[in-house]
Order: sequence, then C-alpha cells, then structure tokens
Amino acid sequence: MQNMLEEIRELRRRKNAVILAHNYQPTEIIELADYMGDSLQLALKATEISADILVFCGVRFMAETAAILNPATKVLLPAQDAGCPMADMITAEDLISYKQEHPDTVVVCYVNSSVEVKAESDICCTSANAVQVLASIPKDKEILFVPDRNLGSWAAKQLGRTVHTWQGFCPIHQHAFDVTQVEEMRSRYPDHLLFAHPECDASITDLADEVMSTGGMLKRAAEVDKMIIATEKGLPDYLKKIYPQKSIVHLSPKAVCKDMKKITISHILNALRHEQHEVKVDADIAARAINSLNRMLELSR
Ligand code: 13P
Ligand code: SF4
Repeated sequence: MQNMLEEIRELRRRKNAVILAHNYQPTEIIELADYMGDSLQLALKATEISADILVFCGVRFMAETAAILNPATKVLLPAQDAGCPMADMITAEDLISYKQEHPDTVVVCYVNSSVEVKAESDICCTSANAVQVLASIPKDKEILFVPDRNLGSWAAKQLGRTVHTWQGFCPIHQHAFDVTQVEEMRSRYPDHLLFAHPECDASITDLADEVMSTGGMLKRAAEVDKMIIATEKGLPDYLKKIYPQKSIVHLSPKAVCKDMKKITISHILNALRHEQHEVKVDADIAARAINSLNRMLELSR
C-alpha cells in the first residue's frame, strides 16, 4: 500500500494532476486527495483548477460535470463503471416528451443526472443550493424537479411552494433508513442532533434536527460534539477518523453506496499511470448542459 501511495504522489507531481474526492469516498482516498467536498464544492473547484489532469474520485455524473466545466483539463474517472442509480431514473427522451406536454414548465435538474438530461434542463442544483435555486424561479412559473422526488419535495416545502417531481430517488437514502431506527437512536442518544441528507424520505427529514448536503454536515460536525448522521457511510467514517473524541453515530450501517466504493487506491494508481478512464462529453450536448450548470453556479458563487 505504501509503495502505491508513493507512486501516486510522484505521478501526481510529475503529470501535474489534481485529485478530487467526494465526501462519500473511503477515508484513505479522501486523505490522499488534494480537495474533498460535496457535489457543489467539487463542481466549483473544478472550474478553478489549472492542472493537466483531474482525477475525480466519485461517480460519473460528478466527473462529467467537472469535464464540462473545465474542458481544458483531462478528467479521469478511475473506476469506469462508478455510476449513480438515481441519475439513471430519467432519460433525455423522458424529459423531452414531458416538456412537449408542458411547454411552459421550468425544469430544475439535480446534478445527479446524465449530461443529456442537464442539456434539456433550465437550471441545475445540488443538495446544497436546491432551495436557493427554486427561490430564483418566478412564483407564477410551474416547476418540474428531476430526478429526485425527495430533494425536490423537501426544497419546495422549505419555500412553501409546490413543485412537480419526477419519481426518482436514491436507493440508499430511500431504503437504508426508517422511522423505527430514528426512534431507537433518539432514545439511545437523546442528546445527539440528527443530521439528514435531503435525499432521505420525508418521513426521515421531518424527524431530523437539520437537513443538509454532505458539505453542510462536515461544517456542522466541526461545531457540535454529538450527532447521528443519516447519509452514506463514507461521511460518518471520515468524521469518526478526524474527530475521535466526538460521538458520531451512523443512523444505519446499511447506508452504503456501492458505486461510491468502486474506486480503490490501485484504481487511482492505474488512472494516473495509464491516464484512464477519460470522461469525454459530446461537444454539442456539453454546450447545452453548461448553460444549466452555469445558471446554478452564478447563484452559488
Ligand atoms: P452532496 O452533494 O450532498 O455531497 O450529495 C451527493 C450525493 O450523491 C448524495 O447521495
Ligand atoms: Fe447516487 Fe445515492 Fe450513490 Fe449518491 S448515494 S451517488 S445519489 S446512488
């Protein structure tokens, strides 16, 4: 392992590469990365990087977003098949036919989506800025939120607004947590705050003390000593490592995203050695998708 880490550091320096890691990556990958973050933080970081190679440790939609936002840099996804099942719950064809039936609807697209779906959308959002993005749309407009019904409904509720939601969801956040676990953990840890990701079902976010992105959780974890976390395992694992003195409880050990765990240290080494697997986005589609991404980034800078 030590030899692999040394070779990665050497290749990173020699090839002028930068490694980005999403907050759900295994702790050893986060520790190796130059930057860690949630989807929004990593997208913003991708726009600022002037490297020859960007190794994206996350899932495909995140690496595609980085490739669109920074076309001068070669973006590598170390495990080619790291996808997002929620992103696959809507296709561009689905969205085109919805828009034909509802031509005046504004389409808000969670970044957990394909580049083709982003190209058919008006504005993107992440879990960190979904409320802000919805608030930027005139009140008299109909909104379709794709693909995550949970994030869309939660964000709309914060504004007292109605939105139509596509019936997509994250299988991990939808199915790993239930109300019984919340009740059990609340009685075992009555002085802990419950932080939930907005991809969770409303039955969970309704019971949470605070609902936020993974970046928001990292920030709050620096401020409080006792917390229950309702999101993917990578984040509480990392928090436990950096705050051994704090009480950090994962709401359910079942909340593991297989796709987020596909990248290993050896994949990163091979990515840098062979400059694989380059994420290429069709230029015409990228030119349309960047509009919805830029509209989001303008609100978030
Ligand atoms: P964040 O943007 O909050 O990191 O969420 C990304 C994600 O895929 C959650 O499942
Ligand atoms: Fe997609 Fe859910 Fe995995 Fe996030 S945790 S990448 S939404 S499947």
